[in-house]
Amino acid sequence: MHLLTRSVRFAINEGVSKPGSNGYAGNPPISGFGRWFELVVTCRGTVDQATGYLIDIKTVDSQVRADAVPRFQNAVATGGDPIQTLRAVVKVLASKLPVAPQSVLLRLTPYHDIEMAPSDTSHALIRQRFDFSAAHRLHSPALSDAENLKLYGKCNNPRGHGHNYIVQPVVKVRIDASPAFSLVDLESITDQAVIKAFDHKHLNEDTTEFSVEKGGVLPSVENIARICFERLGPVIAAHPSKPTLESVTVWETDRTSATYPG
Ligand code: NI
Repeated sequence: MHLLTRSVRFAINEGVSKPGSNGYAGNPPISGFGRWFELVVTCRGTVDQATGYLIDIKTVDSQVRADAVPRFQNAVATGGDPIQTLRAVVKVLASKLPVAPQSVLLRLTPYHDIEMAPSDTSHALIRQRFDFSAAHRLHSPALSDAENLKLYGKCNNPRGHGHNYIVQPVVKVRIDASPAFSLVDLESITDQAVIKAFDHKHLNEDTTEFSVEKGGVLPSVENIARICFERLGPVIAAHPSKPTLESVTVWETDRTSATYPG
């Protein structure tokens, strides 16, 4: 089996939008203070031996433009709910595409998206990115000084060094829950449980979780992802709508990230 992912970018403008020719940036193109979106359709299936295709991406594009974009336009015009609108879009795409999508993701901003699977349209995944700046030092008491230097290199610098970490929790919500678990809830919980705890701190010196002398773990990006998950999970689950934290991804740089649980 293969996965094939296609992103369809478009803007919703005031009035009638003129069609454009730059699907990379978005079609229709943004006009004035229009709103820009990206719909990411992931299909799973077997590759056709004659064509080499799992699905023709032109079919995905035309179906999204025919069935999804008008629904989003209508929702924007009438103050509709993004998750409810995504559910309608997921259902229509699942019924019309020749290979049913495994998931459909609506990117509302570069940092926030909602995702739904046709197999479970009563739940959605909510993602939002956050950042914090912190110092850390990788130095294991199980290793000699020479072994630490050899393993961790620059990351073993005695006084530590800094990163601008990006944190992305993924929360599974019931879409008919009342009160709904909102982005405001996710922001406030993450701010309290992670950002205030770690931002502008020296993780080894200022926190118990990453102080090896106090029984903590080494502040590797893998362990930071797990600690963030453990800090966020119970608080998110305590919301009346009973959402669940699916995973947390932490980027240490734009080239290195860890997700827990994987
Ligand atoms: Ni580092």
